[in-house]
Amino acid sequence: MSDIAVIGLGAMGTALAEALLDKGHAVTVWNRSAAKSEVVVAKGAIVARNVEEAVRSSPLVVVCPLVYDTVHEVLGPAGNALSGRTMVNLTNGTPEQARAMSTWAARCGADYIDGGIMAVPPMIGGQHALILYSGSRQAFDAHAGRLDALGTSKYLGEDAGLAPLYDISLLAGMYGLFAGVLQALALTGKAGIPAGEFMPLLTSWLKAMQGALPIWAQQVDSGDHTSNVVSNLGMQADAYVNLVDASRAADVSIELVLPMQNLMRRGVAAGMANADLSSLVGLLSKQDT
Ligand SMILES: NC(=O)c1ccc[n+]([C@@H]2O[C@H](COP(=O)([O-])OP(=O)(O)OC[C@H]3O[C@@H](n4cnc5c(N)ncnc54)[C@H](OP(=O)(O)O)[C@@H]3O)[C@@H](O)[C@H]2O)c1
Repeated sequence: MSDIAVIGLGAMGTALAEALLDKGHAVTVWNRSAAKSEVVVAKGAIVARNVEEAVRSSPLVVVCPLVYDTVHEVLGPAGNALSGRTMVNLTNGTPEQARAMSTWAARCGADYIDGGIMAVPPMIGGQHALILYSGSRQAFDAHAGRLDALGTSKYLGEDAGLAPLYDISLLAGMYGLFAGVLQALALTGKAGIPAGEFMPLLTSWLKAMQGALPIWAQQVDSGDHTSNVVSNLGMQADAYVNLVDASRAADVSIELVLPMQNLMRRGVAAGMANADLSSLVGLLSKQDT
């Protein structure tokens, strides 16, 4: 018997297995392509001959292949073996997929925990690797000691969909940031400005702008977007036009920046010109465009 089974040894699954082994846990692994297990076998992992053997090896079964469909494909035939065990699914997915997987696991007689990994593989095992969990509280409490080997654990609640909800919301913030950085680099690049010269200015600007976010949180929670406004939506909507026009003039694509202009205009048209930018959250709260 092992302490933990890890199913799926891509870049992330391998990092998870390595972190568990580094902390002294006995780990059994399985991956579709057997060759990928060599790295963790060198560190002491046991290779199961098939998925069912991997599942039966341990009370705690961590799965981390590419997508949820793969989880179904791989674990489906071994569902009966999950009975009496805890399944921790760290595959990226949607809240709906997590809840459906939780229902399936319950039918198999397993406790279910969904997870969201807010880290890249080299961070796994360190304190800066945030791992979000939701699902069975009892199972989380029982296995928290082992899961803590992967990074800093944060349990969000019994609804299995919470971890992926937080995960994709955090990713939404990240991709919004990355989209703006791509636009900035395209604009400055067109003007022949080296990215290495521009980037320090951009990073310090973005850090300075983070200061607005706690105020936004207060505004969103209170529903009052007109207090503490230093840069109102109307002013920002007018200035934003220049960002779009300058991109067009430089023959830089506006595909990333146009949706924000449309949303700002919608906010101004809705009478929110004197409110803060945070008021746009309300317009995003239904799919009416
Ligand atoms: N890498 C990151 O930075 C990162 C960060 C956070 C979260 N994640 C999440 O972690 C999960 C794994 O990502 P990864 O980086 O490890 O991906 P990856 O390196 O591309 O590995 C994909 C894994 O899925 C397996 N797989 C794919 N299709 C399969 C199938 N039909 N049947 C059986 N196994 C199959 C692969 O097996 P083979 O080896 O046989 O191909 C491999 O083990 C994803 O949900 C990802 O979103 C990744």
